[in-house]
Amino acid sequence: MNKLYIEGNKQLSGNVRISGSKNAALPILFMSILTKEKVQLTNVPKLTDIDTTIQLLKYLGAKIKNKKKILHIDTSLIKSNCPPYHLTKKIRASIWLLAPLLIRFGKAKIFLPGGCKIGSRPIDLHIKGLIELGANITLEDNYIFATIEKPLIGKNIYIQKVSVGATITIMGAAALSEGTTVIENAAREPEIIDIAKFLNTLGANIIGAGNNKIFIKGVSRLFGGTHKVIPDRIETGTFLIGAAISQGNVICHQTEPKFLKNVLIKLLESGAKINIGKNWIQLDMRGKKPKSINIATSPYPGFPTDLQPQFTLLNTISQSEGITTENIFENRFIYVSELIKMGAQIKIKKNSVICKGVSHLQSQNVFSTDLRGAATLVLAGCIASGITIVNNIYHFERGYELFSEKLNKLGANIKHI
Ligand code: EPZ
Repeated sequence: MNKLYIEGNKQLSGNVRISGSKNAALPILFMSILTKEKVQLTNVPKLTDIDTTIQLLKYLGAKIKNKKKILHIDTSLIKSNCPPYHLTKKIRASIWLLAPLLIRFGKAKIFLPGGCKIGSRPIDLHIKGLIELGANITLEDNYIFATIEKPLIGKNIYIQKVSVGATITIMGAAALSEGTTVIENAAREPEIIDIAKFLNTLGANIIGAGNNKIFIKGVSRLFGGTHKVIPDRIETGTFLIGAAISQGNVICHQTEPKFLKNVLIKLLESGAKINIGKNWIQLDMRGKKPKSINIATSPYPGFPTDLQPQFTLLNTISQSEGITTENIFENRFIYVSELIKMGAQIKIKKNSVICKGVSHLQSQNVFSTDLRGAATLVLAGCIASGITIVNNIYHFERGYELFSEKLNKLGANIKHI
């Protein structure tokens, strides 16, 4: 059952409930290791990456139960500081085991993380930040070995490249360091704000998350607490683009419009009519095909790299020519070859793709290679002529809760085969 059978020529219209943010829930789960008291999380999406993370925490000794959609986490009994290779390797997020286990045990052995093959995915900025706080870290062939002789000491840390992951690693470590840490050139994503809010709920003292300078006054310990994970802005954008490419009219509920300012501006440029409310966004194409748009990805609040493939798809069936430039990851156009197989007219030039709009895509047997590329191929299948088979769907099951079910409720006809 690792394939989808997708009937094309569908218009996506109706209501969809957005799930909790994968990229907030994953680090929050790992940062729960920083406290020995009980934590409750709500709005955690049901994803294979979340399942892997829960397996990792349970392997270390944590007790985790999901009761009535509330995730109850108790890490007080965690006794291992060396997570297993086979689970660590499955996800990029496992890098966020390093700081909490190091703080908890004074030493940690973490295998190098996995994640989408959209670039080299280095971890040097995570390591540099922890060394600046006083950790001793050696990188062996496929694992990190870290120790601390005495409590970490807060420092002014300038991260040389804007990095969501490294900002989170340093913020988590600094929360329980002595003294104050100032993170400069910090990532500003909404997920960073949510993680800071979670840690502050447990008793941390973090000010300025969401800006490029974050102040963290170390505390001696963290307590328990309850936290609701923010909505997934990338899932929201994916469904809005689904409406835009199929000339449909979709309302995304339980989301946060302010997280998608730049994305909505681009969708308006494509000719969409957009209405927003407190926690919903409506996109109505009024039956029209989208105009092509040029996008260039950059760190938040710039255009999100995680919506780059989906917007390229929009350009492939737009009214003229659009350029997508990828400035975050060095290899995030793998999905393009599959769209070309479906009849898209795309040229890759360095870190840009130039799309010449065609009247429609043709159905094909296509292969996913990463999370957002996979979601893009599924959307392409919904609008192509005929029946499209998307292979390796485990890629999108990592990051989209009930994706095909939600699309079918909007008028798609997708079957697992
Ligand atoms: C997070 O990845 C997200 N993943 C990504 O979402 C997202 O695209 C990315 O942030 C946006 O920046 C999760 O939250 C699990 P980075 P992360 O550190 O933390 C370089 C998805 O589809 N870099 O912000 O790995 C890196 O190579 C995924 O949901 C270093 O050089 O990204 C990249 O060019 C894909 N050294 C840039 O920084 C480091 O130590 C931004 O990476 C770390 C990163």
